[in-house]
Amino acid sequence: EKIYLKDYKSPAFTVDSVNLDFNLNEDFCRVVAKSQVRRVHPGEMRLNGEELKLISIKINGQQLNADQYQITEEELIVPSVPDSFTLEIETELQPQNNTSLEGLYKSNGIFCTQCEAQGFRKITYFFDRPDVMTSYSVTIEADKAKYPVLLSNGDRIKIEDLGNGRHKAFWQDPHKKPCYLFALVAGDLGVIRDTFTTMNGRKVNLEVYAAHGKQERCWHAMDSLKKSMKWDEEVFGLEYDLNDYMIVAIDDFNAGAMENKGLNIFNSRLVLADSNSATDVDFHSIESVVAHEYFHNYTGNRVTLRDWFQLSLKEGLTVFRDQEFSADMTDRGVQRIEDVDALRAGQFAEDAGPNAHPVRPESCMAVDNFFTMTIYEKGSEVIRMMQTIVGRKGFRKGMDEYFKRHDGQAVTTEDFAAAISNPNNKDFTQFRRWYNQSGTPVVSVQENFDAAKGEFHVTLEQSCPPTPGQPTKEPFHIPLMMGLLDKSGKELSLSCDKITVNTDGKNLMELKEQKETFVFKGLKERPVLSVLREFSAPVNLRWEASENDLYFLMQNDTDSFNRREMAQKLGLRLFKKMIQQARAKETLKVDDRFITTMTAILADESMDPAFKAKMLQLPSYAVLAQEEAVLDAEAFYQARTTLRKAIAAANRAQLLNIYRKYHGVEPKSREPKVFGHRALKNQALAYLADLHDPEIMEIVNKQYWDAQNMTDRMTAMSILADSDSAHREKALQNFYEEWKNDSVVINKWFTAQATTTSRKQVLEDVKALTKHPAFNITNPNNVYSLLRAFGANLVRFNDPNTNAYEFYADKILEIDPKNPQVAARLCAAFNFVSKLEPAMKEKALTQIKRMVAVESLSKNSRELLQSALT
Ligand code: ARG
Ligand code: ZN
Repeated sequence: EKIYLKDYKSPAFTVDSVNLDFNLNEDFCRVVAKSQVRRVHPGEMRLNGEELKLISIKINGQQLNADQYQITEEELIVPSVPDSFTLEIETELQPQNNTSLEGLYKSNGIFCTQCEAQGFRKITYFFDRPDVMTSYSVTIEADKAKYPVLLSNGDRIKIEDLGNGRHKAFWQDPHKKPCYLFALVAGDLGVIRDTFTTMNGRKVNLEVYAAHGKQERCWHAMDSLKKSMKWDEEVFGLEYDLNDYMIVAIDDFNAGAMENKGLNIFNSRLVLADSNSATDVDFHSIESVVAHEYFHNYTGNRVTLRDWFQLSLKEGLTVFRDQEFSADMTDRGVQRIEDVDALRAGQFAEDAGPNAHPVRPESCMAVDNFFTMTIYEKGSEVIRMMQTIVGRKGFRKGMDEYFKRHDGQAVTTEDFAAAISNPNNKDFTQFRRWYNQSGTPVVSVQENFDAAKGEFHVTLEQSCPPTPGQPTKEPFHIPLMMGLLDKSGKELSLSCDKITVNTDGKNLMELKEQKETFVFKGLKERPVLSVLREFSAPVNLRWEASENDLYFLMQNDTDSFNRREMAQKLGLRLFKKMIQQARAKETLKVDDRFITTMTAILADESMDPAFKAKMLQLPSYAVLAQEEAVLDAEAFYQARTTLRKAIAAANRAQLLNIYRKYHGVEPKSREPKVFGHRALKNQALAYLADLHDPEIMEIVNKQYWDAQNMTDRMTAMSILADSDSAHREKALQNFYEEWKNDSVVINKWFTAQATTTSRKQVLEDVKALTKHPAFNITNPNNVYSLLRAFGANLVRFNDPNTNAYEFYADKILEIDPKNPQVAARLCAAFNFVSKLEPAMKEKALTQIKRMVAVESLSKNSRELLQSALT
């Protein structure tokens, strides 16, 4: 039941073109697929197909008899076919009953598709693999009144009125593509339109579709699309290649969005936004996901995957491109901090858990389980390291080479690495281990200053913990960006023959051996080392730097990422002590120096507010769970709340000043600068709220009721939701009444209640909410915003006084038969099992065993759960 990369065989047949004819009805849908097929290798023809009703199969117009083919659960096999022929297959589907949301399905009366990774095989029997690329022409026939909008990939050829209340649209895609990029939409939709003129003066029609009445909330997505198109031209020289670009917002969608050629389909939460309904973070996410899907047009669609094990070829690269785009649209330093926070909280945990896998995996049960943070975010870090090694100019040269070599092809991560390394004369043989070895490498740093010789020695030693199937690892090629500072905080010029300077002028220690020493000469006094600047490699640094050095770097480093990183490091050191005290039932001691430093940061007028907000953030529970050997939810909670309270108590007046300075200023602005102001003042409010001071809760309550944007409203509601304030119920009630009919916004209401940590009865709240009329277990966004958010609530999900695991397993088992992809996404909540204390571990394992014992459990959920048992 496992598939292996090593079993890859090139396709036995190629398809020169395919015509898909859809006849859409309320209770069934007929699909006729007519393909021109040519044989490449001898042997039988095997087509993928699942849950299909075959009506007929014809070869060169001749209908096959039942004894001429064979149908299994997953395939249609024709033992004998000519070398070149026309294949015509008619199938019948029931999109209205398709709850898996892959293939062709219906969402709020709209027909839509999701074919990546293997949904096309639920539409017709086909060679459902990315290395079979072909030309598509599509016709869609449907009721004219119910489905006035009929969309597919490529060029709109014509639309015919059939006279009987039905109409038929003709589409043709001039670019060859694999079937996972096929898309169809039919429905009654609102639309907004704009145009973009490309660098060569071609006019492209842009359209964003959404449910009627919601289209005015699509303008931010439209703006984001235009910015993305411009950016890809300027930074990578890539020009859009069709006359139309369409985005459609759909309410029921398993993932975030999908890059179908010329016809992106989006989860409506990543399209719809205005300041009343969306937070600053939502605006930012929409911009970045619209960009991500647009960038796939080249990295994914023009150059696609040879097989699904290569998924990071397009996803890692496209995440890297969207992160760079966001850095250019907002603040590069702050963007990097956010990207690394997400990587550390999610991907590092994945790498340390039972489902760790390499960026290019070697085996799997369910291909859809590949859509992970390792493939996406770590994959992006691998690309970023390549850019760090060859420099920006070198990277652009490599990208040009990649498209020159592989445009129109289905290729591998090795092809990509070769295209980047070749024009830069770099050897990536060792570097490629980043693709093959899982686990987060550890780099330990030893410093030694020899005053007599004026030499500073930095010894780096790397290792990588064992991961499933990989007990030992070979050394990685790790680029560590670095610098040395003198006592006054000035950057020293470096005299070290092992340092490489990339074309951007950055100093790199390129660690390749297991252990290497870098010697810096000509130093009069001991310098202060700043290492892993910009987080230039996805590693865990073991660096026992002195507290003085850490405080010094926090104030003086020229690299803003590291300034904030040192604040995190200091916070973490303090947390570690406090967690120990909590576990030993001792009084928790807060460190004065840390508090004074936070006070100084708050008072620093010269610090950018968005950056200041990052400096004031304490390490998250997700980070604590990785750093600690035991996941002791109560101890984590004690440590974190005690420190937050101490910071708030020591800085009450300051925090209030910050709040008053920025609150209510330009409440409707969508400038990144104003986002930063709001982030800071809302963070100040959250700190203050930890004081449980009635006066502060009045301010929070007032912010809720007076809010002029969703960022302020949500901040206040989340604080109230996590309090025992008398204002709690009224605010929650009001929010519900206000937004109960808004499928996107109501999810915020679920999340605010599922993520509370002070409130001990969260499990009861969540249980009750699953029975609430607003909660629909077949809607992925509802499930993610309530159940997945609760599963990620480390403090309350792992509360020893409750059995959240049993409830959670019930829900996974309820969702799994309907929608395996969504069920599988919930399974990650059990990734920390090995870190639980014996009694809790027992509880969790009981539930995992119960789920795995269900014979009909999907392979998606099974693959992720059973690994926790070995
Ligand atoms: N390719 C899409 C994107 O990254 C995601 C599709 C997710 N598919 C899935 N089966 N989870 O833009
Ligand atoms: Zn993607």
